[in-house]
Amino acid sequence: MDNAATTALDSTVLESMMPYLTEKFGNPSSIYSYGRESRLAVETARKSVAKILNAHPAEIFFTSGGTEASNTAIFSAVRNLGCEHIISSPIEHHATLHTVEYLYNNGEASLSFVKLLPNGHIDLEHLEKLLAEMDGKTLVTLMHANNEIGNMMDLEVVGELCKLYGAIFHSDTVQTVGHFPFDLRNTPVHFITGAGHKFHGPKGVGILYINENVRIKPFIHGGSQERNMRAGTENVYGIVGFAKALEIATLQYEQESAQIHTLKVYMMEQLKKQIKGVHFNGDPIGRSLYTVLNVSFPKTEKSEMLLFNLDINGICVSGGSACTSGADQGSHVIRAVNNNPNQVAVRFSYSKYNTKPEIDQVIVKLKEVM
Ligand SMILES: Cc1ncc(COP(=O)(O)O)c(C=O)c1O
Repeated sequence: MDNAATTALDSTVLESMMPYLTEKFGNPSSIYSYGRESRLAVETARKSVAKILNAHPAEIFFTSGGTEASNTAIFSAVRNLGCEHIISSPIEHHATLHTVEYLYNNGEASLSFVKLLPNGHIDLEHLEKLLAEMDGKTLVTLMHANNEIGNMMDLEVVGELCKLYGAIFHSDTVQTVGHFPFDLRNTPVHFITGAGHKFHGPKGVGILYINENVRIKPFIHGGSQERNMRAGTENVYGIVGFAKALEIATLQYEQESAQIHTLKVYMMEQLKKQIKGVHFNGDPIGRSLYTVLNVSFPKTEKSEMLLFNLDINGICVSGGSACTSGADQGSHVIRAVNNNPNQVAVRFSYSKYNTKPEIDQVIVKLKEVM
């Protein structure tokens, strides 16, 4: 139950990748037939991804994953698009947070964090105030959905606000691409990101969407791949797998999202009924991912060993304790939204492969361990 960390590869996705791991091994840049076959696979994948996200194929760049995509967007906004200020939030993934902190520490941009509301959503009034105060070009980088607490931000609303103030808008959409429909042609955003392994695709492949009105400079030098922007021989089987996984996720969206949402709600109910003192972090029944549930348990000697004991029982979940002592700094997200030293936070995150009996099994083990 740690599917926000990564998901199992779908067997149909693996099947689609296999030819490019075996007989179809041509380099897409080679001009003979084997190369052209691989080139066709990459470009077909790009078209498919673009169509699903309602973008233009020229706006889709394949990367090594979400981290590279966000690094590229943020660095480009500052170094190529002239952004002197960055507005972000304290609960971004480190792929964003460490990048904006690097640019700030390096003297390349000023950095402001937007305030959070008690339920972990960003304070839109404060965002507007920050935007109004900035003179000079600003980059707003705020994630679409938080990977630890599941809170979702309204891309449209934030995008319109950025437009109003002439800001560049990047959103880390790693937890939502492959989980929600996108209509990028009608969404006011300059950069979004995706990672194949979050929706039953392969690891080590992702996308960066760059709106066609934005012109950035090449981010890796040394070849003409990805329209001269990202040099290096393409991860052909990864790219094919990414497109296949997105295609499957899109076809199955209605049914799967409902099924996973039911599991989340069921687990919330069972936890409330069966375990004393549970607290849910974020806004789990409001604007939230159907895949993520972050729960705080009362801190006891036993609950401090919760993850370890669940692991012994074959249950994989991730932590996020508000503990600030010793080497364990806990989660920066939990610290920002619920800094209660008397609680231990655990993230449960679901996929289409989880079942209700598994939830029951986890509840039984949790009761035992607590
Ligand atoms: C919200 C978010 N952003 C970025 C990443 C990084 O993606 P990747 O592992 O593909 O580099 C992750 C996954 O760990 C994530 O959950």
